[in-house]
Amino acid sequence: MALEITYAEVRFKNGSNSSGTNSESPAAPKERTTPHKSNPAFPKLFWASLLILFLLLAISFFIAFIIFFQKSSQLPEEKNTTKQPIHTTLECVKKNVTMAEKVWSCCPKNWKSFSSKCYFIATDSKSWNESEKNCSRMEAHLLVINTKDEQDFINRNLDKQSAYFVGLSDPEGQGRWQWVDQTPYNKSTTFWLPGEPSNPNERCVVLQTRSSSWGWNDVPCVESQRSVCEMMNIYL
Ligand SMILES: *[C@@H]1O[C@H](CO)[C@@H](O)[C@H](O)[C@H]1NC(C)=O
Ligand SMILES: *[C@@H]1O[C@H](CO)[C@@H](O)[C@H](O)[C@H]1NC(C)=O
Ligand SMILES: *[C@@H]1O[C@H](CO)[C@@H](O)[C@H](O)[C@H]1NC(C)=O
Ligand SMILES: *[C@@H]1O[C@H](CO)[C@@H](O)[C@H](O)[C@H]1NC(C)=O
Ligand SMILES: *[C@@H]1O[C@H](CO)[C@@H](O)[C@H](O)[C@H]1NC(C)=O
Repeated sequence: MALEITYAEVRFKNGSNSSGTNSESPAAPKERTTPHKSNPAFPKLFWASLLILFLLLAISFFIAFIIFFQKSSQLPEEKNTTKQPIHTTLECVKKNVTMAEKVWSCCPKNWKSFSSKCYFIATDSKSWNESEKNCSRMEAHLLVINTKDEQDFINRNLDKQSAYFVGLSDPEGQGRWQWVDQTPYNKSTTFWLPGEPSNPNERCVVLQTRSSSWGWNDVPCVESQRSVCEMMNIYL
């Protein structure tokens, strides 16, 4: 390193020597002023470009800093909301499907599995709205009954002494029954108890036993009832 520096000094002296030879020429006074002006001008230009470079560096560091902090403040939030599993334990069965990969069909622990769905039977009571919200929190929705088999399976798992909200309601009281998952209301797959629905002000539906048979009954949505949540199987 030291050798290189001395070599640079030597070269510099040579340069000034050559300019000195130039100054010996008749146009010396004029030429002297120009090298004198250009000599300080060169470091000026050098310092100016160094300053600009430094400023650019500072700005890019500043921008990088901002981007880094934005990312680092976003990432933990994303991790929090997406990575926190709602269902920590799954129970799976090996399905006899021809599909090569999706072999394990799972339901969260304490949920019941039937066909390709999972069911949670809540034993605490809430209004219809709150029950549906509670199901949503568990990535599910209130029970939608699509078939007689499904209805029968659910009935076998309920307590006869209780009523259970399902995902069927008539928001306007006009007899336009709607399933929470937009399944079309099909009159030929309804299981109303005899004489139900009975009251346009009763706009939500429960499953209940009457005269020892299970069926649907319309009740006020604000009533607190147990409920059944439903979700699709989780495939692993
Ligand atoms: C985010 O995570 C922190 C700890 O990692 C936890 O204390 C906090 O409750 C979480 N927030 C949410 C909304 O889950
Ligand atoms: C799986 O499928 C085969 C052929 O379709 C059948 O013989 C077998 O009984 C099935 N096993 C189960 C557990 O369903
Ligand atoms: C609401 O969800 C919790 C679990 O998050 C469950 O223990 C409770 O039984 C649910 N209640 C209803 C009415 O769905
Ligand atoms: C249920 O919630 C909907 C909006 O999500 C609201 O319009 C309706 O009035 C609520 N019904 C009851 C009975 O609270
Ligand atoms: C209603 O359900 C019956 C019996 O499951 C079925 O045959 C029919 O196609 C369904 N109708 C509509 C419009 O989905």
